[in-house]
Amino acid sequence: MTSTASDLDGAPDPVPPELDLSRVPVHVGCVMDGNGRWANARGLPRTEGHAAGEAALLDVVNGALEIGIKWITLYAFSTENWRRPTDEVRFLMNFNQSLLMRRRDELNEKGVQIRFAGRRDWRVPRRVLRRMDESIALTKNNSRMVMTMAFNYGGRAEIVDAVRALVAEGIAPDKVDERAIRRHLYFPDMPDPDLVIRTSGETRISNFLLWEIAYSELIFPDTLWPDMRRRHLYQAVVEFQQRVRRFGAVTS
Ligand code: IPE
Ligand code: IPE
Ligand code: MG
Repeated sequence: MTSTASDLDGAPDPVPPELDLSRVPVHVGCVMDGNGRWANARGLPRTEGHAAGEAALLDVVNGALEIGIKWITLYAFSTENWRRPTDEVRFLMNFNQSLLMRRRDELNEKGVQIRFAGRRDWRVPRRVLRRMDESIALTKNNSRMVMTMAFNYGGRAEIVDAVRALVAEGIAPDKVDERAIRRHLYFPDMPDPDLVIRTSGETRISNFLLWEIAYSELIFPDTLWPDMRRRHLYQAVVEFQQRVRRFGAVTS
């Protein structure tokens, strides 16, 4: 059965006993996909699906806090999403801005540090950039969890930006190595995601954290993002804990 935003009014899903709290992923990335299909299935405009994604986002972040995940990165708008109809793009810009206004105080009180990964180019309205900066400033000293919104984010753009920064520094070719590139990613202190969850059954990456996901475990639940709740996060973590990560080596 599908759930709705009103789920949030009930008791939050309990942590399943099979989830090992001593081995939770440090960093979880989420590609929040399926909002449009969720709305279509209900005869609603696509934008209603984005709006319904807010409850999912909050519940997942609260679930992540509950089990002690230290880093969460949420893909909110890709460098390719500008290709969508103007009205939808405009809605997404305003929605992300208003979501921040509504939620930043409660996130702040819970000890969440808010960050944004992506390009601050001319297409992002100034008022949205202002809200982003306010949220960053408000929460910058929090350390319980870092929540990064990937907004106007593209993995290729991030690598291009890193290379540009290296070239601007005048780096010698033999000094270009993985460490040098990593130093110039948007957040050099961010650990690579251990787990990436993409909702809606699509099994692709769509330009999310390309450099950082080299060895991430990938999970693709069929759940559409607006239906996503912390129990789905917990299920994904349980599945993650059953995987064997070899990083190219051999395990006995
Ligand atoms: C994800 O949902 C939200 C954004 C990309 C901003 P979609 O809008 O991509 O929903 P579908 O994939 O069309 O169902
Ligand atoms: C990826 O979803 C981007 C976000 C969730 C923000 P898309 O819906 O844009 O990806 P494609 O177009 O299906 O690959
Ligand atoms: Mg999509």
